[in-house]
Amino acid sequence: MSKDIVSTYDELVDAVQEARYRYYVLSDPGMSDQDFDALFKKLEQLEKENPSLIRPDSPTQQVGPPPGSAFLPYRHLAPMQSLDNAFNREELDDFFARIIQKIGAQKIAYVCEPKIDGVAINLIYRKSVLEKAITRGNGTVGEDVTLQVRTIVDVPKRLNSARNVDLIEIRGEIYFPLKEFAEMNEARIAEGEAAFMNPRNAASGALRQKDPSITAKRPLRFLAHSLGGAYSLEGESTISLNPESFFPSHSDFLAWADQAGFSVPKPIKKAVSSDETWQAIEYFTAERHNFAYEIDGVVIKVDELSLHQQLGSTARAPRWAIAYKIPALEKETKLISIEVNVGRTGKVTPYAVLEPVTLAGVTISRATLHNEDQIHLKDVREGDTVIVRRAGDVIPEVVKAITERRPENLSIWSMPERCPFCHEPLVKPLGEANHYCENIDCPNRVVESLIHFCSKSAMDIETLGEKTIVVLHDMGILSNVADIFKLHVSVPVLENLEGWGSKKIDNLLNAIENSKQKPLDRLLVALNIRHVGSVATKELTAHFPTLDSIRHAGREQLCMISGVGEKIADSLITWFSNKNNSRLLEELTELGVRTDVDIQLKKGDHTAPLAGKTFVITGTFSGMTRDEIKEKLESMGAKTTGSVSKNTTALLVGSDPGGKLEKAISLGVEIMREGDLEKLFAV
Ligand code: IVH
Repeated sequence: MSKDIVSTYDELVDAVQEARYRYYVLSDPGMSDQDFDALFKKLEQLEKENPSLIRPDSPTQQVGPPPGSAFLPYRHLAPMQSLDNAFNREELDDFFARIIQKIGAQKIAYVCEPKIDGVAINLIYRKSVLEKAITRGNGTVGEDVTLQVRTIVDVPKRLNSARNVDLIEIRGEIYFPLKEFAEMNEARIAEGEAAFMNPRNAASGALRQKDPSITAKRPLRFLAHSLGGAYSLEGESTISLNPESFFPSHSDFLAWADQAGFSVPKPIKKAVSSDETWQAIEYFTAERHNFAYEIDGVVIKVDELSLHQQLGSTARAPRWAIAYKIPALEKETKLISIEVNVGRTGKVTPYAVLEPVTLAGVTISRATLHNEDQIHLKDVREGDTVIVRRAGDVIPEVVKAITERRPENLSIWSMPERCPFCHEPLVKPLGEANHYCENIDCPNRVVESLIHFCSKSAMDIETLGEKTIVVLHDMGILSNVADIFKLHVSVPVLENLEGWGSKKIDNLLNAIENSKQKPLDRLLVALNIRHVGSVATKELTAHFPTLDSIRHAGREQLCMISGVGEKIADSLITWFSNKNNSRLLEELTELGVRTDVDIQLKKGDHTAPLAGKTFVITGTFSGMTRDEIKEKLESMGAKTTGSVSKNTTALLVGSDPGGKLEKAISLGVEIMREGDLEKLFAV
């Protein structure tokens, strides 16, 4: 066997192992599902052709995720199965034919519901109280993520509508809402961090945080889609009960789950024939972008639970349900050229300039190519015909080149040696996939920093849009962010810009003036300090209320704050020790930009969102300490006291609450649980 084959094989094994590790353990796959499938197939093919090569540690020889996670294993009471897939109408009709043959009846009622592209989870309620939340794992053994799941608002901690049963298992999907996903990715890209590949990976990443307080900060949601099982406990034994004795049909189960406090997939469509099912599929396909979560298919389920028993399941999946996979939105187009952009952190991102194509009503003329390694891995070249894909609301990407249609002599693309904007050499740090322009005066970096400074999540001066920033930068009026606060002297210049009248100029100057009062965490986000994003700045300013106190904090003090690791602490220290940055801060202070937290809100401001409300906190919370909750409530204008009275707005109850809970119940005071906090903090 040639040395080449052996080394290709080793490389493939390594690549698949790395991708699996990144997918399961880091929740950051670094490639799309389709690319992973292609890589895996390549490995399988090579092994088929050369069986003597097969290494025992090859990913083809393993089932389920690799070891390396930090959560406790938990054996499911009943295995968590998967679903069989249908990719076209024929396969769907085969499914119906199998059922009709087995049941012997023609007219069978089905429920069609969206297939949520999330993270499967099993919730166990003991006497109506949430006891455990377990991931699917390999289907038999999952991982205990109870503390993390307890932080999700729409996972009920106690069921509203109990059934007389000792244990009940509710299965569903944890998902990252699309709108928040897009916002988070935008912020990550703006902060120079890698974007999440898709909402499912973002949900999985948030769920797999060892520290549940980090999970609590993510906007995770849950949808219940099936009954796992119902059990009675007798001594040491758990006896599985017949689900039909609780719910005659799956639609009855969903109606109950809705009442019990769960969110359930909506709408569902009932169907009694293949045609009606197909209409439901057409409905979900057309509406897929109007859901708050990513949908990758339609699940068709036999409605009557007694038929589930009759149909049974294979080792992998039940015979009473099937997932129709909605095809990803893909189209062919021509890749005209590969260009690069330099972000405000200096990160260089190559992108494809495409002949425009319309995908689901959106015209796409650019698609990200991530980095040079990705371009080589996909072997994409300028002049190629390529397939572009847009999955859900996610950034369009180039899937692959159609190499059979490649004209001769297309050269392999390589990263330019110098920055196209400032002509300084580009640098690729050892072990990193990205190239950087390290010149902080690079005009593109400066423009990107100015755009970021004005963005909604930073100082919110959106009247100053990208185009105007570029023009004013080119004219030498905006060379750094402090210049924004001197724009009032450039009114005559603004008046001469196309589309700028006195009203628009007034609005701009007002927005700039108002931005000076933004609290410190916004300023810190705006300043573009590497790795310092909105989560870290909130934590920082909760401990250090002024810019000076952060500047003078030592590394150890900074590292002690949850959400601020060594990387962020070092980055802050480096940034503050730079003379240009010190000068910039002095200038901003002189120009009237505030450099402290919003003290007003802390001390009983009547316009604060929780002004006039009084809370009492009792018990232990998994996501935040009592002091943190108190501080947060006070920063929103609320009062907190130590004892419950009829004037108490609500009692916030953690686990092991003690006597305050009884008193609150007897006085009729509202009781709020940990799951309600996110909503309360979002008012
Ligand atoms: S019913 C026996 N309904 O998709 C499993 N599953 O690819 C019964 N999924 O394992 C599951 N949306 O984790 C069901 N509306 C839905 C679903 C759904 C997403 C997940 C589930 C399943 C996987 C199969």
